[in-house]
Amino acid sequence: MIQTPVIVTFANQKGGVGKTTLCVTFANYLVTKGKRVLVIDCDTQQSVAKCRKADIRKYGEEHIPYDVLAYGADDRQAMTALMERLRNEPGMDVVLMDSPGSLKADGLIPMFVNSDIIIVPFHYDLVTVSSTASFLMFTDRLRKAAAGQMKARFFIVPNLNDGRVGKRSELAIWESARETFSNYGRVTGKIPKRADMERFSTMAALDMQAGIVASVFEEIYADIFGNNENQNEQ
Ligand SMILES: Nc1ncnc2c1ncn2[C@@H]1O[C@H](COP(=O)(O)OP(=O)(O)OP(=O)(O)O)[C@@H](O)[C@H]1O
Ligand SMILES: [Mg+2]
Repeated sequence: MIQTPVIVTFANQKGGVGKTTLCVTFANYLVTKGKRVLVIDCDTQQSVAKCRKADIRKYGEEHIPYDVLAYGADDRQAMTALMERLRNEPGMDVVLMDSPGSLKADGLIPMFVNSDIIIVPFHYDLVTVSSTASFLMFTDRLRKAAAGQMKARFFIVPNLNDGRVGKRSELAIWESARETFSNYGRVTGKIPKRADMERFSTMAALDMQAGIVASVFEEIYADIFGNNENQNEQ
């Protein structure tokens, strides 16, 4: 039996790679799988919390699929206490945490150390690839410094994939990124760059969105929950 809640953090020091977008679309995906979800918005822009407020104005409060709570990530002690509380949150299957696109906030250390899963979106231009590599090296040093306390498994997700980009030099970046990143965790399939992904709702996946992310989310889901999770119910 898997210990719940599973704490899943979306992180990368590089901004604009899709942490927030994938956090919300994964929350919507987990709801369709019957999971009880809580979203913790620790991004300075608090886009998920703002989106939830707008969604409530638009759709009302009747059918809210999961709560969204906003917290700052600047204070190390406050984050340690928050992670402890989330770890013991009753009746919750998955806690999803969105984090800011920088490493400046001190609270990120206890956040990463106490996560079960860290999802690292990136896209494969040179700047993003090298910045993502630095981020993965940082988390590796953190794991060593945490002396056995940090158990997080990493999923590294190529996002914003443009099928038209396929020159030999770009494919070479992709291949070497894939090889390097595999040392830190599982590099998943690619999520394409699509206009349908440019907006999101905290109430349900928008038209077409579920299909765009499905295969990658299924890959992550199966890895977290296994394929035989309903065995006990038979
Ligand atoms: N698969 C995708 N297809 C098209 N647009 C996408 C996709 N993923 C993300 N985007 C867009 O890319 C931009 C950056 O995404 P997002 O805000 O989720 O990144 P972020 O990593 O959370 O950024 P920050 O570090 O600033 O918080 C947004 O405009 C978003 O709509
Ligand atoms: Mg964000």
